[in-house]
Amino acid sequence: MRVEAEVKREVRQFYDDVGWKQVGEGLYQNIRYEDLRPVSRDYIRRCRERVARHIPADGKYLLDAGSGPIQYPEYVEYSRSFHYRVCLDISVRALREARGRIGDHGLFVLGDLTRLPFRAEAFPGAISLHVVYHLPAQEQEKAFREIHRVLRSPGKSVVVYSWGKSALLMRLAEGPVRAAQGLLKLIQRLRIRGRRAAAGSAAEAERRTLLTTPGHYSFNYDSRWIRRTLGDLPGLDIRVWRSLSTPFLRALVHGPLGGRLGLALFYRLEEAAPRMFGRIGQYPMILCEKTAGRARHGSSGEGSHDELG
Ligand SMILES: C[S@@+](CC[C@H](N)C(=O)[O-])C[C@H]1O[C@@H](n2cnc3c(N)ncnc32)[C@H](O)[C@@H]1O
Repeated sequence: MRVEAEVKREVRQFYDDVGWKQVGEGLYQNIRYEDLRPVSRDYIRRCRERVARHIPADGKYLLDAGSGPIQYPEYVEYSRSFHYRVCLDISVRALREARGRIGDHGLFVLGDLTRLPFRAEAFPGAISLHVVYHLPAQEQEKAFREIHRVLRSPGKSVVVYSWGKSALLMRLAEGPVRAAQGLLKLIQRLRIRGRRAAAGSAAEAERRTLLTTPGHYSFNYDSRWIRRTLGDLPGLDIRVWRSLSTPFLRALVHGPLGGRLGLALFYRLEEAAPRMFGRIGQYPMILCEKTAGRARHGSSGEGSHDELG
């Protein structure tokens, strides 16, 4: 228990001090984990849009557990037709940034995903993106079950997870990715030789330090663990969110080599076999769905949020 509390304290501190510090207009330190190059933009955007297909079209509250600052425009869209987006996070800075982005559309709750401070069946829809695999290993099942507990009947949830180093597709690509990374490093070194003299400003120095600060804890179970441990959750399904990791994209996808077209074709493959790519790709969506039955609808009063807990 002490170890778990320690991991969470570190995660919160990381996001308050480093992760959600802006390093540019609307960009955070954690862009170091994303490929922001134009060549990958469409593929990444379309992958993010997949989440919207698996949450209800509308409703009163959408839970975003571990919302961070709602950092990408596609993320903002998920709650467009809900009255409120309930952003829960352990980082105060995350919630402040999220409020700056969605204002009155949001309700902001400082809390822990493994002990959600909401009553059962409070939400018709819930999402949690890139959070659960940053929780201590022993707490991940609890997090999935908490999201399920607060989901209404009918209701749908999407958890974007990562298979980490066990993602089969990325393991198969390891050799080519390493070789390309070596080559790219060499090219970069040759390019910056001779440009050393231009010393950056203090702000630039801080930005560089932030971007090279290591991330924090993560633990990745595999798809067998998900099926074995969560198999009793209704409507459990595993589908692709995005098969290709950021290191893969950065190393092997380049505009002059037909990268954009290659990604468009690959996206189609993912669409044709979403469950297979969900199993072997880097990032799956873990879906749950409670069907209609014991539906319990809260009041639709705009002023009070008592029905949440
Ligand atoms: C990798 S970020 C993802 C943020 C956002 N969902 C996204 O995809 O951009 C992980 C977020 O989860 C939050 N977090 C980590 N552990 C948490 C916990 N136990 N309860 C609630 N939030 C947590 C962090 O503060 C951080 O904002």
